[in-house]
Amino acid sequence: MQQLLITGANRGIGLEFTQQYLAQGWHVYATYRQQPGEALAALACDQLTLLPLDVTEDDSIADLQEQLNGAELDLIINNSGVFGPKDQNLGTVSRQQWLEVLNVNSVAPLMLAQALHENLRAKGGTFAVLSSRMGSIEGNDGGALYLYRSSKAAVNQVVKSLSIDLKQFGINVVALHPGWVQTDMGGANASINTHTSVNGLRQVITKIVPANSGQFINYDGTAIAW
Ligand SMILES: NC(=O)c1ccc[n+]([C@@H]2O[C@H](COP(=O)([O-])OP(=O)(O)OC[C@H]3O[C@@H](n4cnc5c(N)ncnc54)[C@H](OP(=O)(O)O)[C@@H]3O)[C@@H](O)[C@H]2O)c1
Repeated sequence: MQQLLITGANRGIGLEFTQQYLAQGWHVYATYRQQPGEALAALACDQLTLLPLDVTEDDSIADLQEQLNGAELDLIINNSGVFGPKDQNLGTVSRQQWLEVLNVNSVAPLMLAQALHENLRAKGGTFAVLSSRMGSIEGNDGGALYLYRSSKAAVNQVVKSLSIDLKQFGINVVALHPGWVQTDMGGANASINTHTSVNGLRQVITKIVPANSGQFINYDGTAIAW
């Protein structure tokens, strides 16, 4: 049976990934930060293992590693992320808020990869990070959004180095853009729903091979400029 570990599965894109991979017959290790929400708890079945994880806590990552007990995974999706304060214009940026966003969006994915990449070795699996087009330096024509943009640009560089370092173990690493998605983060006016985004991302993930490891890919399969 194919196996996925996904972070931030309580809501939004992470919850939808959990639903869709369960429907495809995968075993899903789905993590939540505090308590599993109603929607996640309602998915309870033999294929689903719910585990607590705060990606900013090293002890929490170590506990997760222990509970996985060497489980051989096909896929890890670092989905958890934060946007930070709504107003991220020049003149409003606070050091503490910026560091909090960097901690979740940029530092945590590397800490997770450090702890869990061995679980991907047996099956030559994939480590996928939910990045954002907002992290594209070439695509930045709007300015502002300092905290979020810089955190996703930083994690893109983490993805690139991981793809090089983990190649020797047959592990592929990619940065994914889910589109502008109707979630708590994306808001109600976003252009696509979670079903469309995750359906597209699953097709993208299926096609990941060593030749496209280290790329930044949109949910529709097109490449995004760094
Ligand atoms: N929605 C969009 O339009 C969009 C666009 C581009 C990229 N993305 C990226 O896609 C990913 C998912 O976004 P979303 O729209 O589904 O966001 P969301 O609805 O705000 O959900 C974010 C998830 O991340 C979890 N999380 C936050 N901090 C965490 C921590 N310290 N430890 C563990 N989990 C934590 C949250 O857990 P709690 O439920 O406990 O808070 C929640 O489950 C994010 O990385 C986001 O940056 C989203």
